[in-house]
Amino acid sequence: MKKAKIKNNYFKSQNVDVNMNDSKKLIYAGKAKDVYETEKEDEVIVTFRDDITAGDGDKKDNLKGKGECNSLISSKLFEVLEEKDIKTQYIKLIENGSMLSKKLDMLPLEVIARNIATGSLLKKFPFKENQKLDPPIIQMDYKNDEYHDPMLNDEITKALGLATQEELDEIKEITLKINEVLSKFLKEKEILLVDFKLEFGKDSQGNIVLGDEISPDTCRYWDIHTLKTLDKDSFRQSQDNVMDIYKQVCNMIVDENDLKKWNINN
Ligand SMILES: Nc1ncnc2c1ncn2[C@@H]1O[C@H](COP(=O)(O)OP(=O)(O)OP(=O)(O)O)[C@@H](O)[C@H]1O
Ligand SMILES: [Mg+2]
Repeated sequence: MKKAKIKNNYFKSQNVDVNMNDSKKLIYAGKAKDVYETEKEDEVIVTFRDDITAGDGDKKDNLKGKGECNSLISSKLFEVLEEKDIKTQYIKLIENGSMLSKKLDMLPLEVIARNIATGSLLKKFPFKENQKLDPPIIQMDYKNDEYHDPMLNDEITKALGLATQEELDEIKEITLKINEVLSKFLKEKEILLVDFKLEFGKDSQGNIVLGDEISPDTCRYWDIHTLKTLDKDSFRQSQDNVMDIYKQVCNMIVDENDLKKWNINN
């Protein structure tokens, strides 16, 4: 992995135990998740933490139970995608909060799909608020904290050597398919998928595989009837019920059968 070094933990307070046991060594600590190596070279354990950040890292908090919630939601949505033959990192949910995943060589791209115009798009372009985007817009940002994740186009991406045109075309095609599958699944759960951010990587054979997470931290979900925010926008807006919202979404997406299958007692 390109970033196989222990980054100075973003949250000094969160004392991550690097040597939890012999088979679980921390190889990367991000802003909301930790990545541990396993005995298998091509597998990692992704652990979802309770830390939450927004506004380029300016706004931070720790919300008890958020990591577990996000691990359950992500696992369910990865399973939904796998059923439709979309390649993801997901192997299994080992325990509440920890997902066994394929180790990927991550591409430094934030791949964003938008069905409705809102958020940062309105600051950059004269779209009307809540304007339907059909066909959906796919946009890629350079995942780079130092440069504050600037928006890319294909030419800049290729000139920087981040991906080839073939890889970009494949990523866009997979993202559109993911958008279709997730929009349909979430609609059945009475959730409107407004927009979302994906991260892809390459597996040991060089295949493009969906990694990271699909959670209220990385998607905009709206209540299909009231258009109420059911995602991290609640934190951006400093609402006082952020965890209630995450738990509500978890209950809407994950059902009793999933918990039983994963051996999780709630
Ligand atoms: N399957 C995978 N294999 C290897 N690395 C992964 C995998 N899935 C996600 N990652 C990487 O692990 C990190 C996840 O942690 P987190 O989301 O907390 O990081 P971040 O704060 O968004 O990003 P970063 O710290 O890299 O700027 C990210 O760098 C992500 O690209
Ligand atoms: Mg992240």
